[in-house]
Amino acid sequence: MVSALLPFEGPADLSRIEAPVTLKAYLICAFAACGGLFFGYDTGWINGVLGMPYFITLYTGYQYDYDKKQPIGVDPTNFGLPSSTKSLMTSILSCGTFFGALIAGDIADFIGRRLTIIIGCLIFCVGAILQIASTNQTVLFVFGRLIAGLGVGFISTVIILYMSEIAPRKVRGALVSAYQFCITVGILLANCVVYATQDRNDTGSYRIPIGVQFLWAVILGTGLFILPESPRYHVMKGQLHSAAKSLAYVRGQPIESEYIKDELAEIVANHEYEMQVVPQTSYIGSWVACFHGSLRKGNSNIRRIILGCGLQMWQQLTGINFIFYFGTTFFQQLGTISNPFFISLITTLVNVLSTPISFVAIEYLGRRFLLIYGALGMVIMQYIVAIVGTTAGRVEADDPAAVRAMIAFICLNIFFFATTWGPTGWVVIGECFPLPIRSRGVGISTACNWFWNCIIAVVAPYMVGTSKGSANLGPKIFFIWGSLCIFSMLFAYFLVPEMKGLTLEQIDKMMEEVSPRKSKKWMPKTTFVAELARRDQEKSRQQWRDVNAATNVGGVESGMGGCGYNQEGNEMGNMDPYGAQHGAGVQGGYGGNSPSMGRDPYESPNTVRY
Ligand code: BGC
Repeated sequence: MVSALLPFEGPADLSRIEAPVTLKAYLICAFAACGGLFFGYDTGWINGVLGMPYFITLYTGYQYDYDKKQPIGVDPTNFGLPSSTKSLMTSILSCGTFFGALIAGDIADFIGRRLTIIIGCLIFCVGAILQIASTNQTVLFVFGRLIAGLGVGFISTVIILYMSEIAPRKVRGALVSAYQFCITVGILLANCVVYATQDRNDTGSYRIPIGVQFLWAVILGTGLFILPESPRYHVMKGQLHSAAKSLAYVRGQPIESEYIKDELAEIVANHEYEMQVVPQTSYIGSWVACFHGSLRKGNSNIRRIILGCGLQMWQQLTGINFIFYFGTTFFQQLGTISNPFFISLITTLVNVLSTPISFVAIEYLGRRFLLIYGALGMVIMQYIVAIVGTTAGRVEADDPAAVRAMIAFICLNIFFFATTWGPTGWVVIGECFPLPIRSRGVGISTACNWFWNCIIAVVAPYMVGTSKGSANLGPKIFFIWGSLCIFSMLFAYFLVPEMKGLTLEQIDKMMEEVSPRKSKKWMPKTTFVAELARRDQEKSRQQWRDVNAATNVGGVESGMGGCGYNQEGNEMGNMDPYGAQHGAGVQGGYGGNSPSMGRDPYESPNTVRY
């Protein structure tokens, strides 16, 4: 079966452009999703550490009585780091991640996705060491956080890219959602570790939460050393044999499988097609290309950048991080709550437990449905919180039942976020960019997430703060978040196409042919291979030869690099799927004796030519 490689026989067989899903594919993606732990954990631990007595003493000199659990010689309300220090220590991470995300998109195209993630882990470790080494040097601590942020930026960008590129189309949404799940688990773990060490009277109080992160770095870095590079990266670099090996590995199929040939041919043809639309220029030119095209065309690069950045911006403007970053303080201000920390822990738990629902929902209901109705759900929940908070739930009303109702609706709001905008924001940015600008597009979109994350971290305390110069909005802030969710909903309705069940290459075609609102009904009619072939018969003939050569045992390139993978490559090198043509290199599978591969489709007497 070589249909996708038989462009002259009419539309290629659409059902064969991807191999069946294997357990291996699930496991590889599930492992890569661990990158989300960094994201969640690193955003989660800082709030707790900034409130720890030992850390406060270290940076302010105020003393604390650990037996009586109260500060010595200073009013408890004044026992804390200055707001400016807190703000700097919190937001510097987002600053690092912002730049890390932008740089990583670039690097991932030069050295590959896998290596960029490994480098991200190393950078992150350097940052963590600097933070652990600092005792009361604000500059060193802040610098360490900046460096760690760079590493997190690398990882948070490239993991999405890597997962989207290796995941099978039918479960891509679910697998990338696993990344979001790891983010939520990271936040929860950070809360638990900080809770466990907060009362320590030694440097372990803050060094342990920071040190735990090495574990994620070691697990992810080591694992990726063994996993293969993204086949789409190899295609971009023109390394077809490596791409074939890599694809065979992630699909759990033999390299000579027809599925691998068909899928690879489609990736190659799509890349060719895209390169014709956006030709390669200089380094600056390739950045400019990301913003190229007409705003009216759904598949122009600029429209995709708007889609990616807009999604990440509106995801942040749902206000979810207000709850995770400032929930404890907000619950304290509501009065009547005896243990605000416990309530925060519950909100984090709701986040973790709700996210897996998205694994199924994203594939059954689709991206658009989740984004539109998820935003609607958040509008309703946040308005209810705001209305109750400004009436029966007011502090002066002193009504514990009303406050409990507010907390319940905040949890429902988290449920809506966790099952919809949380994962879908990441899934869509992994899917919406064409290969030539994919890594930069994902990088720019991720940077956008961190940018707005930072803005909210800086602005929100002033919105609800009670001190002079603050707006003291209290629960009214939920009117603002709820209203912003209306914009999130409109954005999804008008600008986000449905991508469920399509390959990354078909998504490209769909964005070209229909508007987001009609995208749900779009069905692929042809393949890029067939399309290109019609345009350029000769080019496709060469493609067929190249792909055959690449999937042939001898191959045109040497090994892949990376431990476990090389081993597999060698094993494959000893097999001869095509009969007589042992290691025959470029011509191996093409004119040989194998019944399936030895046939030259272009010479076949049965070929129906256009
Ligand atoms: C967001 C984070 C947020 C987290 C909460 C992610 O998708 O990008 O900013 O803290 O979800 O689960």
